[in-house]
Amino acid sequence: MAGVKKEGKPGSGARALKTRVKKKRGLKNSSRRWLERHLNDPYVQRATQEGMRSRAAYKLTEIDDKHHILAPGMKVIDLGAAPGGWCQVAAARVKSDPQNPSVVGIDYLEMDPVLGAAILKTDFLDDDAPDRLIDVLGGPPDVVLSDMAAPTTGHRRTDHLRTMHLCEAAADFAVNVLRPGGHFLAKTFQGGAGTDLLAMLKRNFRSVHHVKPPASRGESVELYLLAKGFRGEG
Ligand SMILES: C[S@@+](CC[C@H](N)C(=O)[O-])C[C@H]1O[C@@H](n2cnc3c(N)ncnc32)[C@H](O)[C@@H]1O
Repeated sequence: MAGVKKEGKPGSGARALKTRVKKKRGLKNSSRRWLERHLNDPYVQRATQEGMRSRAAYKLTEIDDKHHILAPGMKVIDLGAAPGGWCQVAAARVKSDPQNPSVVGIDYLEMDPVLGAAILKTDFLDDDAPDRLIDVLGGPPDVVLSDMAAPTTGHRRTDHLRTMHLCEAAADFAVNVLRPGGHFLAKTFQGGAGTDLLAMLKRNFRSVHHVKPPASRGESVELYLLAKGFRGEG
């Protein structure tokens, strides 16, 4: 990549290569720092090596390794799926049949196809999105995932409120469509889910807690809400 060079640590015999982005006109310092951090991020490097669409894929991998929410044969809905990392992980773990996918992802952004997942290019907040998701999946899901995040405005409180709204919409959807025993995992923010949302989830699931996988950057306010064991209606 132009303007990018690899440097070893001076004096270290070890191959501690670090990618530096040259100072160039037109690239703000903050953008250069972001690019440098991105290029040196071990999860980004691992995603490139392993053919994963996103570093976010490892957040779901780590959460599932610890909390066991995905298993072969399950049906999964992935809200806010682009560019497709979570769909890749879910399709592999539920052993989705590419001819008859048991994973359906939705995003209003364009994304490349993912083997074993059906993709809807739609806004999840559209009135008909929930019915369309169930239609394409061919029945109720065992797991509803949401990594939806609103585009950032730079105004922290606005961003927070918008993403919390998406989390609430996802939770509402989950309790309306999940199979009994099913699980719900959604992105939220530090400070956690609002008390009404938590109370609603606690009524509907056997366990509810916040999780922060190692792949979620320590300095990020992102947190995940995991609700396990949907009690079902009544
Ligand atoms: C952090 S990214 C998801 C990354 C994904 N989990 C992966 O591993 O590739 C968040 C996504 O949520 C999507 N999103 C936000 N609001 C949405 C909405 N109302 N309907 C559908 N997708 C939405 C964004 O377009 C964005 O692609």
